[in-house]
Amino acid sequence: MPVPPTSGRLQWTDVPTPLRARLEDALGAPVTDTVTPAGGFGHQLAAALRLADGKRAFVKAAPDDDPLTAANVHEAAVLDALPPGAPAPELLGIHRAASWTAVVIAHLDGPHPDLSPASGDAEQTWALLDKLTSSPAPAPYAAAVSTTPSTAAALHGWDELAANPPADLAPAARALLPQLAELEAAWAALAHGNRIVHGDLRADNMVRDHTIGVTFVDWAHATTGPACIDAASLAPQLVLAGHAPADIAALLRDHPATGSSADTTTAFLAALTGHWHHNARKPAPPGAPGLRTYQHRAAAAGLALLGYRLNGTLLQ
Ligand SMILES: Nc1ncnc2c1ncn2[C@@H]1O[C@H](COP(=O)(O)OP(=O)(O)OP(=O)(O)O)[C@@H](O)[C@H]1O
Ligand SMILES: [Mg+2]
Repeated sequence: MPVPPTSGRLQWTDVPTPLRARLEDALGAPVTDTVTPAGGFGHQLAAALRLADGKRAFVKAAPDDDPLTAANVHEAAVLDALPPGAPAPELLGIHRAASWTAVVIAHLDGPHPDLSPASGDAEQTWALLDKLTSSPAPAPYAAAVSTTPSTAAALHGWDELAANPPADLAPAARALLPQLAELEAAWAALAHGNRIVHGDLRADNMVRDHTIGVTFVDWAHATTGPACIDAASLAPQLVLAGHAPADIAALLRDHPATGSSADTTTAFLAALTGHWHHNARKPAPPGAPGLRTYQHRAAAAGLALLGYRLNGTLLQ
């Protein structure tokens, strides 16, 4: 799948010298090379460090007054609390110096998964989601996310669009606006649950590690919720990657994480698609050049899936 373009990320040389020294000390060797992977929309440092002893580590860092630091600290707590066997890299440490914070994570070696129909990665990802959500989140994980509000629960957009429909809104969406706004309004009350939710599952938040296979990264939005959230988020991504919406609609109907909660899944998909349709029309935020284009494409994919769920057919 085409990965959204890399944004203007902070580089290793932007990190204050005392924090770089602290990290090299903790890692046990000087940094000889850094690679900023493609993918994502953030502006913080997110880089693979190569060390003089040949080892590698992945580090995310930002100034303490940047909201991303709170997100990184949350991600570190989540990584530390996920159950053994969860598809996530190991947390190696948190380091603070010069009013910056760095989170060090085990390096995964490989590309983003290929979610296109030609690859087996999508199938592997569905299987990981089944395993991740088949039982309640363990207590340490639930505690780690207990104070973080769910970004998934707050998703909406059709309410704003219904109040002031933009001229370029797809006719299919325009015809369904009242129904979509109603479905979306039901979502917040359905958004609670006791399963692990990654909360931002896209190909660029996964790495297909050469040794351990597909692994989820970027757990900054992790929370607890109903089992369907990640599988239903992944569904439009698979459409963007070239799968037929009808095939993905059938998968959603049959997958253990979504099949037994059809109304919750539809409400969530409506809220997510509304969020994309609404946000795609806002001015581009600084430092995230690919975001609005991506949201337009994702909005169309989400609407295609909603068409199958609501009308049993592709909306024209
Ligand atoms: N442990 C890791 N090992 C190797 N590469 C990783 C690792 N974690 C993340 N990456 C790569 O780095 C990129 C950025 O990481 P991540 O998504 O965690 O950062 P972010 O700034 O929170 O992202 P976003 O821009 O999506 O908000 C990912 O798209 C992935 O390619
Ligand atoms: Mg990311």
